[in-house]
Amino acid sequence: MKLQSIRKEYKLSVLDESSISKNPLKQFEEWLNESFKAKVPEPTAMSVASIGLNGFPESRIVLLKDFNRDGFTFFTNYNSNKGKSIAKNPSVGLHFFWPELERQIRISGIAEKTPDEISDKYFISRPELSQIAAIVSNQSSKIKSREKLTKLFDEEKSKLKPFKRPDYWGGYVVKPIRYEFWQGRENRLHDRIIYEKENGNWNISRLAP
Ligand SMILES: Cc1cc2nc3c(=O)[nH]c(=O)nc-3n(C[C@H](O)[C@H](O)[C@H](O)COP(=O)(O)O)c2cc1C
Repeated sequence: MKLQSIRKEYKLSVLDESSISKNPLKQFEEWLNESFKAKVPEPTAMSVASIGLNGFPESRIVLLKDFNRDGFTFFTNYNSNKGKSIAKNPSVGLHFFWPELERQIRISGIAEKTPDEISDKYFISRPELSQIAAIVSNQSSKIKSREKLTKLFDEEKSKLKPFKRPDYWGGYVVKPIRYEFWQGRENRLHDRIIYEKENGNWNISRLAP
């Protein structure tokens, strides 16, 4: 397959200063709603990039579970690779790509653990089998075999309910310092609008594509 001959023109929409919200959170909400309407398969899937302990950037997909003035929340294992890298350096990048709308959003921010009440509330809202998976998976550690994992899962399943959230599992809330909204345009002259936080206010600028 000749990858270099693949060409797609982006012409679905425009992003301009006159119509965007002054508040990046509102702008995010508007685009997320549009991604649901456009039936983007997993609009809340986002990549979280962090600085790995070995100094290399590393990213992985997680699911956004909440966003509000406090930040953008996802849940994971605090002992995972991402947990360890965030503990050392809480600067992270979030990235959404919604091809059906020819859009991407990048957010830079600082990750903090969510308060226990928030992690507990979300943990108990999950299906029981997902709770068990969170308990038995020592995420990102090497395991001997799949069989060992399913054995742990079955053992946990037979224990007394309700299951309690383990202290190594919970949420992170990412507090944004910068947003970039990208809309694909014709002839690769894409629209890029950034919001940068300065003295508590959001400054808006346009970037060259
Ligand atoms: C669609 C999708 C959704 C995912 N959602 C989560 C999630 O919400 N939390 C999570 O810890 N891992 C999630 N994962 C798995 C992560 O991508 C990753 O494999 C895992 O968190 C371990 O990453 P780490 O070793 O870098 O810490 C998801 C993967 C995919 C493809």
